[in-house]
Amino acid sequence: MPRFGVLGSGVVAQMLANGLKRHGYDVRIGSREPAKLAAFREQTGIATGTFAEVAEAADVIVLAVKGLALRGGPPTMFYCGNDVDAKRIVADLLVRFGWEPVDMGTATAARAIEPLCQLWCIPGFREQRWTHASKLIDRT
Ligand SMILES: NC(=O)c1ccc[n+]([C@@H]2O[C@H](COP(=O)([O-])OP(=O)(O)OC[C@H]3O[C@@H](n4cnc5c(N)ncnc54)[C@H](OP(=O)(O)O)[C@@H]3O)[C@@H](O)[C@H]2O)c1
Repeated sequence: MPRFGVLGSGVVAQMLANGLKRHGYDVRIGSREPAKLAAFREQTGIATGTFAEVAEAADVIVLAVKGLALRGGPPTMFYCGNDVDAKRIVADLLVRFGWEPVDMGTATAARAIEPLCQLWCIPGFREQRWTHASKLIDRT
């Protein structure tokens, strides 16, 4: 079972850490100032630490820190799959993480979605910019 590290001390991070613990996962939660999570640690028994400590101990890192406010609403995250129930869970998680989920259909759409990550990386490698995102717009 993977060990989870939730980076963030806000409501989203706390809710996710609680949910993961409830489902039996080993989870830690992190903040730049771990002392602010003392009450949460006492209530839940979930271990706390700095971002670095929590990331180091984790197999899976969940990023739940303050996002950028984008003009025009949340950015788009395309998703696809053959399991309708699993897709519903993914779409719900994406909304909680601040994305606009856009369903691209069955798993065959992954062939088209995956290269978008390569496109996203280009400004990062060329200009060290990693804070951008894309948005699907519709004129209607
Ligand atoms: N709240 C909602 O209902 C909701 C709904 C959908 C999506 N979201 C998204 O979920 C994410 C978390 O939301 P939230 O409301 O739980 O918390 P938040 O108030 O958006 O963010 C709090 C967290 O961000 C960290 N943080 C703030 N500025 C930072 C900086 N400059 N460098 C590193 N970390 C920084 C804080 O770290 P410290 O612990 O060190 O202070 C804290 O852990 C956000 O991206 C938000 O847009 C939230």
